[in-house]
Amino acid sequence: MDTLSRLAAAGIVSPRDPAAAAGSPPDSDQFAAHLVWCGPAPLMPGRPYVFRLGGLSTGVQVTHIKYRIGPGGGEHLAATRLSAGEAAVVNIALDRPLPFVPFAADPERGAFTMVEGGKDIAVGAIDFALRRADNVHWQALAVDKRSRAALKGQRGCVVWLTGLSGSGKSTLANHVERRLLAEGRHTYLLDGDNVRHGLNKDLGFTDEARVENIRRIAEVAKLFVDAGLIVLTAFISPFRAERRLARDLVEDGEFVEIFVHAPIEECERRDPKGLYKKAREGKIKNFTGFDSPYEVPESPELVLDTAAESPEVLAERIVEELRRRRVV
Ligand code: ADX
Repeated sequence: MDTLSRLAAAGIVSPRDPAAAAGSPPDSDQFAAHLVWCGPAPLMPGRPYVFRLGGLSTGVQVTHIKYRIGPGGGEHLAATRLSAGEAAVVNIALDRPLPFVPFAADPERGAFTMVEGGKDIAVGAIDFALRRADNVHWQALAVDKRSRAALKGQRGCVVWLTGLSGSGKSTLANHVERRLLAEGRHTYLLDGDNVRHGLNKDLGFTDEARVENIRRIAEVAKLFVDAGLIVLTAFISPFRAERRLARDLVEDGEFVEIFVHAPIEECERRDPKGLYKKAREGKIKNFTGFDSPYEVPESPELVLDTAAESPEVLAERIVEELRRRRVV
């Protein structure tokens, strides 16, 4: 079935309104849209996908699910994710502006697809450009990342620690930060439990909350790299897609992904916060490694086994890696 038939099958049809297509198509990077999800995994706001409109393509994130359209077509249902076959009205943000025509003006040109691994995961119809996209401009700044970092005698980078709860991410990040501070380096440590007391206190542990948690941290880490800092992050960050997003937000060579590994039995034996015990007793839901997944990194820069070596030795390996990359 082609895109238009698939939209029609989901009840997304539009009366032609040629007046709306008058003039040459403007560019925009934020839209309201109808879409029908058909991906194997649920749609999660904030997760990066590929967007195709006409012959053009770019990265896209669904920034907000306004409502899911009920099976009858008329109902507006609250939703934080979409499963295959579900239709919704959403806001989307593209990585770069594209010329567009609303679906109502020209269904052929106003229809888009979203793609992952070469397969369609959504078909959609552009409703209108969001005005915020027109009214927010990028401000050129006089001082740049390189000057800020040069003043500190270092290069900014993100040291991204990922692993199960209790694997030793925070302990290791603490050791590294202390080591770097002793050398006069400028650092900042973003730690899961701490950031969840402030910036991310509205987020829990469903898959979509974790996606949003890591999306925000990735953006904050990017800002801190721009400030010239060596940023250490200690988050479970269980999904490859969001670790990839964090990597893609900074320049090549500025991202060091470290898989902090310990067998789950060892993490449970350590159980520093008593959470594994609670998860076993069924008192915590969506606990990583139990009823919430952890996707092991496929090609991290370092794999550190905290069951085999001391935090001091492993912290030294991280500092060596930073030296090798001429960060310090
Ligand atoms: S992440 O998955 O979104 O990256 P994050 O690293 O911020 O998680 O937070 C994990 C910390 O929250 C754990 O170290 C643990 O102390 C606590 N926590 C509370 N509930 C859970 C849960 N259901 N799953 C995992 N960690 C949890």
